[in-house]
Amino acid sequence: MPPSLFSRLFGSGPSEFKLQINTPDLTVTAQAKESLLLAALNQGIAFPYNCRVGGCGECKCRLVSGKVKELTDKSYLLSAEELKDNYILACQSLPKSDVVIEVTLREGAVSHPMVETSARIAELQPLTHDILHVRMQTEQPLAYTAGQYAELVVPDEAGTAAGKGRSYSFATAHDATRPNTVDFFIRKVPGGAFTEWLFAKAAVGQWLTLRGPYGDFCLRPSANPIVCIAGGSGLAPIKALLEQAIRDKQANRPLVILFGARTQQDLYGLDAIDQIRRNWTGRFVFEPILSNEADGSLWKGRRGLITDHVTAILGERLPDHHAYMCGPPPMIDSCVEVFTQAGMPSTQIFFDKFLDSGHAAHPTP
Ligand code: FES
Repeated sequence: MPPSLFSRLFGSGPSEFKLQINTPDLTVTAQAKESLLLAALNQGIAFPYNCRVGGCGECKCRLVSGKVKELTDKSYLLSAEELKDNYILACQSLPKSDVVIEVTLREGAVSHPMVETSARIAELQPLTHDILHVRMQTEQPLAYTAGQYAELVVPDEAGTAAGKGRSYSFATAHDATRPNTVDFFIRKVPGGAFTEWLFAKAAVGQWLTLRGPYGDFCLRPSANPIVCIAGGSGLAPIKALLEQAIRDKQANRPLVILFGARTQQDLYGLDAIDQIRRNWTGRFVFEPILSNEADGSLWKGRRGLITDHVTAILGERLPDHHAYMCGPPPMIDSCVEVFTQAGMPSTQIFFDKFLDSGHAAHPTP
């Protein structure tokens, strides 16, 4: 009998191994076909990570003993010293034996076990011409931290959730009184299979599969002033994070929100921002900045790119701020450059690059 695809890829050895993280008391089971990162996250361990596809380097850890199969080249993300010290990317490493790794776990991070659950579309509401507010009711309750995201999968014709998921940030802070309700702001991506389906065919009552939560973009406790920068549908996690800040009694921190959009028609969520303003006890500044508004329009606000204005808005205290950003990669990269050049330590800069095709899908072998 010809070997199955699985056995050709992974051999026909054991299907699960032990994964020890730092100390023997933190040992979990890792399936041969899942990454070390997924094994840890599935069991609620606060493992550092972000992209899940070998692109950010945040899941790097030292392989102390055991063998792994590495799915991608890690040399462009790790330094020569890290490579020499046997560092690997947990999201790109499948166990080939029992494995021991060392990693600095996310301090103070709340980890929620990942769930895969059916989720019914409960509400669809256009926010702009190309952004939909999608409310879903999940079959299983779901806990998450504001700033995290979930993966949505449309069932295939056979009704299974085998398809590639698209990932979207939760648009509201988790509400323990309605643990089965989740909200997303989803922007239509021309040619994007998931959003083409969503905008053309999705209807209230349809069922999808939801996996999550993922990501470690979340508000860090501190007394420092906050600058939040959102581009397009990147407003979702920023809104959630600020709602969480109000609940966590961090609303006395000075706050600047910069919301980048193309034109006035692309601005949305202003009521929600006003609601945050009403509950914010510290200094509150909100500046929408339009990059493509017609010259002769009645718009009296700021025009151009966020980087054209951020230094003037934050003033001398710019380096004291903690920056939280979500939006397209060029916007985030240019803001990071402005902040670091102005002296903001990189430990105060947090972001979630919001890729048009969604965040990364599950790493698949
Ligand atoms: Fe980004 Fe592994 S490289 S999570």
